[in-house]
Amino acid sequence: MRFLFSFTALLCISFVQLTAQTKPYQEKYRPQFHFSPPAHWMNDPNGMVYYKGEYHLFYQYYPDSTVWGPMHWGHAISKDLMRWQHLPTALYPDSLGYIFSGSVVVDKNNSSGFQQGKESALVAIYTYHNMAGEKAGKTDFQTQGIAYSIDKGRTWTKYKNNPVIKNPGIKDFRDPKVIWHEPSKHWILTLAAATEIQFYRSTNLKNWELSGRFGKDEGSHGGVWECPDLFEMKAADGTRKWILLVSIGSGAANGGSGTQYFIGNFDGKNFTNDNAPSSIQWLDYGTDNYAGVTWSNAPNQRKIFLGWMSNWQYAQVVPTQKWRSAMTLPRELNLIKNKNAYVLQTLPVAETRLLRKEPTPLSVRSNKNYPLSLNEIILNFDFAEHVTGNISVELFNDTNEKVQIGFNCDSNRFYINRTHLLNNSFSKEFSATHSAPRLLNSKKLTMHLFIDKSSVELLADDGTVVMTDLFFPSEHFTKFRIVQEKNKSVLSNGKMYTLRSVW
Ligand code: FRU
Repeated sequence: MRFLFSFTALLCISFVQLTAQTKPYQEKYRPQFHFSPPAHWMNDPNGMVYYKGEYHLFYQYYPDSTVWGPMHWGHAISKDLMRWQHLPTALYPDSLGYIFSGSVVVDKNNSSGFQQGKESALVAIYTYHNMAGEKAGKTDFQTQGIAYSIDKGRTWTKYKNNPVIKNPGIKDFRDPKVIWHEPSKHWILTLAAATEIQFYRSTNLKNWELSGRFGKDEGSHGGVWECPDLFEMKAADGTRKWILLVSIGSGAANGGSGTQYFIGNFDGKNFTNDNAPSSIQWLDYGTDNYAGVTWSNAPNQRKIFLGWMSNWQYAQVVPTQKWRSAMTLPRELNLIKNKNAYVLQTLPVAETRLLRKEPTPLSVRSNKNYPLSLNEIILNFDFAEHVTGNISVELFNDTNEKVQIGFNCDSNRFYINRTHLLNNSFSKEFSATHSAPRLLNSKKLTMHLFIDKSSVELLADDGTVVMTDLFFPSEHFTKFRIVQEKNKSVLSNGKMYTLRSVW
């Protein structure tokens, strides 16, 4: 009898344990409104394309481990960019190599000839990374291949004559991003080739010719160039500019990997920079937004950007279990004029509002604590009087750990300080304060924050300065306060929303 009781109790306990363990997306640090894979390793977003009501997100994926390995393309779809449905792995390594980063286009006019029925072919253009070649010390182990889907991205067939771009002897030769260029009626493929960007053109996505090169002496070269993106944007005044995004593996604004952008013109063959070659524009000053590009074929000409929310400095050792890495929030890019130059503005996509519950007003009072779970915080400051010192949002818990996100009025810089965390020792680079210069002169300043379980995104000054940072407190942050060190409060309006989990 006693045996029976304990056996039943044991069964019950294991059932509870099992359900607790298998409940998805509840692990410590698991983002609740950012995309992450169900399990295992993820890095760059790939092949982002919109087709017939579905946003597709593919991603660099290693399904056998929580560290980087033989790369596949994982796959998920969403109707609203917030709630994702996971689909089977789309592309597997083959005899030509691992499947590195790349893009997908909708071949509306069947230029490739891949279409068979009524669905347009979705064509993926990606890099093959041949491990045997790399190990043998060759320089030509990265080539470009294509694959297509004629069933709305559900299944993929690799092109039989891959690779479509052979390697001319350049070790780092990867991450093709393809767009349709209407004026020249060509597909344009933008490729990171060591220390420069190369542009190729094609009429059928299979035969490519090199048409131009850009960047050897332009912008930041603190690391290898990767994951470019090229697109045209129109400012409110009607001015059109071409934007070239280029991620660099190391040496970004606050160290490690990051993404810079150039603004200029593209004539169908080559890109020219509007700014001085030495000037550098960072898309994000935080250390956790890398390899991001924009969605192809997005409705209403929207330029929707998504980045990998990590950094090669420590991505493989962050203290998550079961899975590693999440994406940033999808962000809407706009072209705006600041002083006499055009710059990119980064806003949260309107779809983030789907997550909001009721708003709560906020005020600056160092002794006033607000509950923190998943939050969007919007603060408007008015600097009518001279203000000094720091103004910040402090996230904290009962173990005295904190992350501060703020603005330093004396240095005129935004910052995120994640040094006050007990478990930062997994990487020597992680424990740091990151900062970003203010671009606007206005007496009004805004800080727009999104706080998930282990990340903060700061979109400051109407999205002209962006910082994305991860954090891993030993216990979750449960509260926040708004602190202004000196002078009387300049917060003219503050509110927060608690956000819904998407899982
Ligand atoms: C960027 C990157 C790409 C490459 C991929 C490999 O993070 O290094 O250049 O295609 O990751 O996973």
